[in-house]
Amino acid sequence: MLLLRTISCVVLVALSAVAQTVKPVPAKIATQIPGQNAILMGAAWYPEQWPESRWEEDLRMMEAADLKVVRIAEFAWSRMEPSEGHYDFDWLQRAIDLAGKHHIVSVLGTPTATPPAWLTQKYPDTLRVERDGQRVTHGNRAHASASSPRYREFCRRIAEQMAIRFGHDPNVVGWQIDNEYGYALMSYDDATRRQFQDWLKAKFKTLDRLNAHWTTAYWSQTYDDWGEIPIPVGGHNPGLMLEWKRFVTSIWTSYQNNQIDVIRKHAEPRQFITGNLMGFFDGFDHYAITEPLSFASWDDYVGTGHVDPVHNGLAHDLTRGFKRKNFWVMETQPGAVNWSPLNNFLNRGEARAMAWQAIGHGADAVNYWQWRSALNGQEEIHGVLVGPDGTPVPFLDEVNQTAHEFAKVESGFRDTAPSSEVALLYSYDSHWAIQFQKHTEKYDDIKLLKSYYGALRQIAQSLDVVSAYAPLDGYKLVAAPSLSVLPKDLADHLLEYVRNGGHLVLGPRSGMKDEFNALLPQRQPGFLVDALGVRVEQYYALEKDFPVSGAWGSGQASVWAEQLKSQSQGDEVLLRYGKSNGWLDDQPAAVTRTCGKGRITYVGAVLDDNLMAAAADWMAKKSGVTPVFGPVPAGVEVSRRVGPGKQVFVLINYATETRRVPLPHPMHLALGTMQGDAIELPPYGVAIAVDK
Ligand code: GLA
Repeated sequence: MLLLRTISCVVLVALSAVAQTVKPVPAKIATQIPGQNAILMGAAWYPEQWPESRWEEDLRMMEAADLKVVRIAEFAWSRMEPSEGHYDFDWLQRAIDLAGKHHIVSVLGTPTATPPAWLTQKYPDTLRVERDGQRVTHGNRAHASASSPRYREFCRRIAEQMAIRFGHDPNVVGWQIDNEYGYALMSYDDATRRQFQDWLKAKFKTLDRLNAHWTTAYWSQTYDDWGEIPIPVGGHNPGLMLEWKRFVTSIWTSYQNNQIDVIRKHAEPRQFITGNLMGFFDGFDHYAITEPLSFASWDDYVGTGHVDPVHNGLAHDLTRGFKRKNFWVMETQPGAVNWSPLNNFLNRGEARAMAWQAIGHGADAVNYWQWRSALNGQEEIHGVLVGPDGTPVPFLDEVNQTAHEFAKVESGFRDTAPSSEVALLYSYDSHWAIQFQKHTEKYDDIKLLKSYYGALRQIAQSLDVVSAYAPLDGYKLVAAPSLSVLPKDLADHLLEYVRNGGHLVLGPRSGMKDEFNALLPQRQPGFLVDALGVRVEQYYALEKDFPVSGAWGSGQASVWAEQLKSQSQGDEVLLRYGKSNGWLDDQPAAVTRTCGKGRITYVGAVLDDNLMAAAADWMAKKSGVTPVFGPVPAGVEVSRRVGPGKQVFVLINYATETRRVPLPHPMHLALGTMQGDAIELPPYGVAIAVDK
C-alpha cells in the first residue's frame, strides 16, 4: 500500500509538465470604458429626490471635481413606473443627458431592491415572509420575495423597459442589477419551500440518495416524501443546511439572470452588467452569482473605526478573484456612514488612501455613496459630498484632490491588472460548513484567511484570492487555509497542480467533509491523505494557547490544534506541539512532503502572528516567490498592476510617521515626492511609480 502511494506520485511526475510562469494579464480590461479615463471616480446620484432645476448645479460641481460617473435610478421604481404598466423615463433621460453634457457617464441600477407601494399592496405575495411566518410590511427596502414568480415578472418588465429606452444611449456605460441583491434575504413561504423541495429533487433524483448523503437515519430524519423536507432555520442537518445555501445562491442567480437576459436582449454589448457585492458577505456563493456578470463590483465601507489595510486589501482581492478580473468599487464611504454602532469620520487623507488602495488592487472606478443626502428618509444623516443646502462639505476637498489625481495619472493604469505568483483559495461551501459547526466560537475562517493573507502578502506584495476550483497553473504557491469541504473532484484538481510542480499549503480542518457536508471516512485531509502521507488523528478546540516549535521557530497554537500522524515515509515534520493537553504533547503540528514535481504542506493549527510570518517566509522561499517591488518599511503597502510592456506600483503609507521607500531601480514617479533616492511618504501618503 505504501509503495503504491509513492508510485502514483512518481508516475504522474513523468506525465506532467511544469507550468510555473507568471500568468499573463487579460488583453481586454472590461472595467475600462472605451473613450473614458482608465480609472474613474464618481458618486451615487439621486436626481429623483431633487427639483430638476437643481440638477445642473450638482453636475457642474461634479464635473469641476473631476467626477466622471454617476450611478443612478437603483431606487427610483416609483418614479419610473408610477402606476402598473405606465412607464415614465423622460425625467431619467433628461438627467442622463445633462450628466453627459458635463462629461459624466451613467450606470443605471435596476430598481428591484425597492418595489413601489402600488405593487406590494396590490400583490402582497410579492412581499417576503420572515422566518416567523410574518409578511414584511412596505416601507423599507429588500422587502420583496426574490423567489416570487410574480415579483420576477415585474422585475423583468421594468428592466426590459429600461433597456429598451437606454440600451443604446451613448451616455449609459453599464448596468447594475438590483442593489446588494436584497442582502440575499429569502422568503419563508410555502411556495418557496416547494421550490426548494423541487430543487432538491432535481439534484438528488431519489429520496434514497438524499437520505443516504444526509445520513437521515440519524435522529429519525428519514424523508419518504419530498414535501416533508423543511427549510432549515438553524439547528438542522448540516447536509440540509448546506443545500439550502446552494438553493439561495440559485434563487439570487436566477433572479439576477432574469434581468440580465432582457437587458442583454436590448442593450448594446458595450454596456457592461455588474452587481454591487459586499466583500465577505456570505449570503450566497459569489463565484456562482458573478458568473454571468461583465465584472464584479463591491461596496467598500469601514463603518466604525478606521481602515484596516490588510482586511480591506483582502476584500478587494476577494472581489477581484470572483471573476479573476479587475472590478469596480461601486460605493465607498464619504467620511462616515449612518449604520454602524459608532459612525465616526475617517481621518483626513484616509479616504484618499482607500481610493488608491482600491486602484492598486485592481479597481478601475471608485464611487462615493452618495452625492447629497435626501432631506428625509432612513439615510438622511449618512455622509455625503454635498450638504442639505447644496454646497460642499469639507470632505469634498479630499475627493476633489483624489479625483484630480486619478485624471492626471490614469494613462499609467490603462490595460493593467494585478498579477500574482501566490493564490489563496476560498470556498463558500467550506466557509458555511465551518460556520454551521464552529466547534469553538473562536474559530473564524475569515480571520485565518486574513492571517495567511497578511503574512504572505507582506512577502509577495501581490496576491490573488480565488475559488478553490480556479485554474492554478502559473501560481508558485497556493494556500488553502480552511478547505473543509473537499470532494474528490476538488482533490484531483489540487493534486494536478501539485504534481505539475506547485506548492499547496493546507490549513486546519482541511478535507474533513465531502460535497454533502458529510464526514470523509479517510479522516482529514480526506482524498489528499495519500498524497500527503499524513492524516489527522484527532482535532482539539483549544481553551488556551499551546506551545509549538520547529523549523519556523517557537510560538503558540491557538483556537484549534490537530494531531498529525504519518501514514507512509517521506514526510518532514515542520512543527511539533510542546507540553499541552497530554494528547498533543510532542506530536506533529505541521508537515510537508514532496509529491510529483511539487509539494504539499499541512499546517494543523492556528499560529500566532510571528510564527505565521516565519511560516510564510518558509513557504515563499520553498516555492521561489519573490516580492514584486522590493523591500519597503513597515506600514507601507505596495500593489502592482501589470500591462503590456509596463508595471505600475501604488505605494501607500498607513503608518503614523513619514516613511522613506527606496526605489529598487529608476522609475517614473507619476504621483508623490522623491527625497534624494527615496520616495517620501507622509502618513496616508500615496505614490505611483511607473516602470516601463
Ligand atoms: C449600501 C447601499 C446604499 C446605501 C449605503 C449606505 O451600500 O447599497 O444604498 O444604503 O449602503 O452606507
